[in-house]
Amino acid sequence: MLATDPPQHTRLRKLVTKAFTSGAVAQLRPFIARVTDELLDQWPVGERFDFVAGLAVPLPVIVICELLGVPAGDRPDVRRWSGELFAAGRPDAIDAASHSLADYMTTLIAAKRLSPGSSLLDGLIATRDGDDRLSEEELVSLAVLLLVAGHETTTNFLGNAALALLQRPAELDRLRKNPDDVPAVLDELLRFDSPVSTATFRFTTKPVTLGGTVIPAGAPVLIALGAANRDPVRFPSPGLLDLDRDASAHLSFGHGIHRCVGASLAKAEAEIALRAVLSRFPGIRLAGPADRLEWRHTRLVRGLVSLPVQV
Ligand code: HEM
Repeated sequence: MLATDPPQHTRLRKLVTKAFTSGAVAQLRPFIARVTDELLDQWPVGERFDFVAGLAVPLPVIVICELLGVPAGDRPDVRRWSGELFAAGRPDAIDAASHSLADYMTTLIAAKRLSPGSSLLDGLIATRDGDDRLSEEELVSLAVLLLVAGHETTTNFLGNAALALLQRPAELDRLRKNPDDVPAVLDELLRFDSPVSTATFRFTTKPVTLGGTVIPAGAPVLIALGAANRDPVRFPSPGLLDLDRDASAHLSFGHGIHRCVGASLAKAEAEIALRAVLSRFPGIRLAGPADRLEWRHTRLVRGLVSLPVQV
């Protein structure tokens, strides 16, 4: 879907958008809240805890697996392959992870054909088998995209947002005292530290002049979303986390026809997770110096390997 143009893109996108409308996401909120609570129940108060391993990774994985109908026992494999896909590893390792995910989805689809359920993936299978609006290859590819795009990104968003707030006790305190402000500050948190570094490779269809440079037709273009989000012309003092600024024009979800289909789901997860952490652990703080934190070695996404906190 990410690498298609209309009309193919329009057809594919139409098949999944209804699963991610704000109404559909609202129905998922109780589930997201329950999973968040169960994960936070395991946080020992008064001890160090890894925000990434304990919440930012498992929450989005569980939510997207539930939505797609991926059995709980398969989540660790899915998570591992997906991590390898995003790691800046050797091309053959990335290729192997991509094939593992595609093989897994092919097997899952076959199992669901024998024993259908009510998940998003079951709906896509019914579309494929019913009126043939989806080829088998598109079905597998779409399932893998949803699985991977549905959690890697949100994991990084949660970690980056938590770090930005933990480094700024006044802002953290404000949200703790006014938890209803959380939904309104998500855009600024997304702008401040973009969880996805670059958009998909795209090709110009005609010459484009940008900042005095002519990009010829047919050239590959890779847009740095994180850099656009720090453009001082668009966002004054871009290096400042300003929870009161209108950051709704950020590019963290992309722009145009490929704008993120899961944006409202990602925001719902972040809102629920941040509110729950702030209310349960009012004294939460970083467990070590921020400049010692390890970032993931990948050019595609920007996220923390771990985020030790003291609760
Ligand atoms: C904070 C979390 C997220 C961020 C930062 C994010 C970011 C993005 C970006 C930048 C794009 C556009 C890429 C491009 O134009 O090349 C995109 C597209 C997409 N995202 Fe997300 N995403 C997030 C969460 C999700 C979730 C939860 C899902 C759910 C399955 C999802 C599914 C997709 C899909 C399917 C596309 C392709 C849309 C298309 O090609 O029309 N994303 N996302």
